[in-house]
Amino acid sequence: MTTAEPPLGKDLIGLEPLSREQILSILDTAEPFKEISERRIKKVPVLRGKTIVNLFFEPSTRTRVSFEFAEKRLSADTVNIAASGSSVSKGETLVDTARNLEAMRIDMVVIRHGASGAAGFLAERIPSNVINAGDGSHEHPTQGLLDLLTIRDHRGSIEGLKVCIVGDVLHSRVARSNIYGLLKLGAEVAVCGPPTLVPRSFAELGVSVFHRVEEAIEWADVLNVLRLQLERMQAGYVPSLREYNRIWGISTERLERAPRDILVLHPGPMNRGVEIDSDVADGPHSVILNQVTNGVAVRMAVLYLLAGGAPERAEAAKHGGEA
Ligand code: CP
Repeated sequence: MTTAEPPLGKDLIGLEPLSREQILSILDTAEPFKEISERRIKKVPVLRGKTIVNLFFEPSTRTRVSFEFAEKRLSADTVNIAASGSSVSKGETLVDTARNLEAMRIDMVVIRHGASGAAGFLAERIPSNVINAGDGSHEHPTQGLLDLLTIRDHRGSIEGLKVCIVGDVLHSRVARSNIYGLLKLGAEVAVCGPPTLVPRSFAELGVSVFHRVEEAIEWADVLNVLRLQLERMQAGYVPSLREYNRIWGISTERLERAPRDILVLHPGPMNRGVEIDSDVADGPHSVILNQVTNGVAVRMAVLYLLAGGAPERAEAAKHGGEA
């Protein structure tokens, strides 16, 4: 059940190098896989015999757990490695770590790393498939894909939608993956936030730039609200968290002034009361938990396609086939 040329190539490092057709093929492959997580026994033999290492050098809840569920629900054998409990903490390099794992005959590596480019660097040096689970401020492709799937679920199509990414765009790998994916699928994209976190240079990517959140809300069909990444900031990006919330925070009061029914996404983890108020996060505009649910199906699709599965065989595969 393999195609002559894998639809995604060897690795998934970002959405920037993918074509519109490749992105749509991942989203369409995720559709039939959604149902597996709703079953009483959430397991199909699609990746039976594959060994996958989840190598997380930075903290994660959603991405790490979601990859592990996706792998286990497709019957892969999985091993989780965190930097703190591994020989990385004794100074072993990324490549030495990966080559030692390769010596144990693995098939895929899912990697999260604080350095932009780490996933691509590894992909060029090992024969296993490499999936980027977030590298510095470069890309977080599976987050971008699950955001696209969630928007498509709720609005029918991405084409022609106006999507504004609000908040700490400067430090955000999620913003970059969203921008590349949304533009390829025909959305109009804007970014909004303080000039320190949303430099005008983002316009070079083909997006509009707003510095007033009221303007962004007036314009947008969809808001993707980003966390202030306090751990990546030196002092001085925002006057204070309270001021940030007052000027750029997404509140019910602001959404009620919008000319249309706005969909609100957030990749998590949220700083409630900073970039998003609790009544918005838990309210009728929010699809934040739908994003998390879709994350498992999107990651199943990526694993299946990188293993050589054909998009048109995904429906049959979930009823008992192997990739
Ligand atoms: N969205 C996201 O990447 O969340 P985690 O950091 O919890 O994985």
